[in-house]
Amino acid sequence: MDTVNKVIDESKQGEAYQLETTSTENGKKLFLESYGCQMNFSDSEIVASILLDKGFTTTQNYEEADVIFVNTCAIRENAEQKVRNRLNDFKRVKQKNPKAVVGVLGCMAERLKAQFLEQEKLVDIVVGPDAYRDLPNLIEEAEDGRKAINVILSKEETYADLTPVRLGGNGVTAFISITRGCDNMCSFCVVPFTRGRERSRDPETIVKEARELFEQGYREVTLLGQNVDSYLWCGGGLKKEILTEEQKANAVTFAQLLEKVALVNPDLRVRFSTSHPKDMTDEVLYTMAKYENICNYIHLPVQSGNSRVLDLMNRGYSREWYLDRMAAIRRIIPDCGISTDVITGFCTETEEEHQETLSLMELVQYDFAYMFMYSERPKTLAERKYKDDIPEEIKKRRLTEVVDLQQKHSAIRTKAAVGKVHRVLVEGTSKKSEDMLMGRNSQNTVVVFPKEQFKKGDYVNVLVNSCTSTTLIGKAI
Ligand code: SAH
Ligand code: SF4
Ligand code: F3S
Repeated sequence: MDTVNKVIDESKQGEAYQLETTSTENGKKLFLESYGCQMNFSDSEIVASILLDKGFTTTQNYEEADVIFVNTCAIRENAEQKVRNRLNDFKRVKQKNPKAVVGVLGCMAERLKAQFLEQEKLVDIVVGPDAYRDLPNLIEEAEDGRKAINVILSKEETYADLTPVRLGGNGVTAFISITRGCDNMCSFCVVPFTRGRERSRDPETIVKEARELFEQGYREVTLLGQNVDSYLWCGGGLKKEILTEEQKANAVTFAQLLEKVALVNPDLRVRFSTSHPKDMTDEVLYTMAKYENICNYIHLPVQSGNSRVLDLMNRGYSREWYLDRMAAIRRIIPDCGISTDVITGFCTETEEEHQETLSLMELVQYDFAYMFMYSERPKTLAERKYKDDIPEEIKKRRLTEVVDLQQKHSAIRTKAAVGKVHRVLVEGTSKKSEDMLMGRNSQNTVVVFPKEQFKKGDYVNVLVNSCTSTTLIGKAI
């Protein structure tokens, strides 16, 4: 995710990739585009790994593709709209090459299932996030002229044995999935329906992946899960609820996993996302404080600053609990970067309750935030139980207030970083100038500085002497 403050429709725009194939070419070209969260981008790396292994080559031009895949997001209505618009673009390909196969992958595929094939005549394949191993078969079926679908969700699949093909990356930072699915059932959220039950991945495979990335020159890994704090491995993926005390004592917790990954190499930075306020333990914070290479940055989505709304959202914590977690972060990791997600205009939210979101933001002063208007999603608890009763203009006005306040806070936070030395991991050249490098400090803020002799993957101490609202500017010392 870009770590700037903005009202995001989706964290990233569609992104397509060009890669070398890994085995004997089968003569077919794959166009693969991703929408949605980091986990979806990480899944595309699994998809690429499966198909490159079958001899596909990739193209960034969908007009010349034999197979077009869009990995989709269903989190908000406008995320889905974007995909539908995109499918229209692909119509031209079919007109030119009737044998071309169009597939919809990911969360929107899982949500709509066979309905997709009826609604969008153009689509040949519909595949949910747990069925990517089946892609080669599904493509064959579609090539034979049959519509192909696999939306079976799994309680075990973690793709733990597959080595993701790193897509569109910088060769320095990479994602590693540590859990899949979500068991939380926040009332507004479609993810439990699109990604299924939560399951944790074998820690040995996670550490192995981190080690291999380090050996290939990567210097930062981000451990991904919808709620990383609920990571728990007790061999064979047993469910938490049925564990004996002994099994629990032997299980690997998120804090322990974090430590294992941090120990891979002191020069490998470790980040993680997303933390959940109801589950984030002090043990995790102490582990972060103990290891220099675990970045001092936490994304801790609050959603609302009012306890009644949080209760309706089924988030499992109150305003007071959240502020207590915030105090723990400030106590244990004083220079921690903190970001959040906020939803405005959730069902029945009053003006006073919205003011409480603003006042919580004042108390915390987040470095960054991702802010959204509530978008009702089919099948969710909120859709079934509550009325989406806040008019669009009010949702929008509240969102503007949240965004404006956040902009003020971001400016304060970046200004406070001026005059200090920051350890920056270089990710590449700056977008604005070839003579400047860009990287991030531990708190996840972007830092740019003159290139001199430095290069991608270096750690550089940068004295920051000025800033824009979101970027720090300095010089190596
Ligand atoms: N697992 C993460 C969030 C994943 S979805 C967590 O629990 O924090 C990313 C963000 O999208 C959420 O934090 C929420 O702010 C937003 N979001 C999810 N469903 C939404 C909806 N129906 N309408 C608007 N925003 C939503
Ligand atoms: Fe959705 Fe809540 Fe799970 Fe996050 S924790 S993915 S918001 S259900
Ligand atoms: Fe979207 Fe699915 Fe991620 S709904 S936010 S792509 S888990």
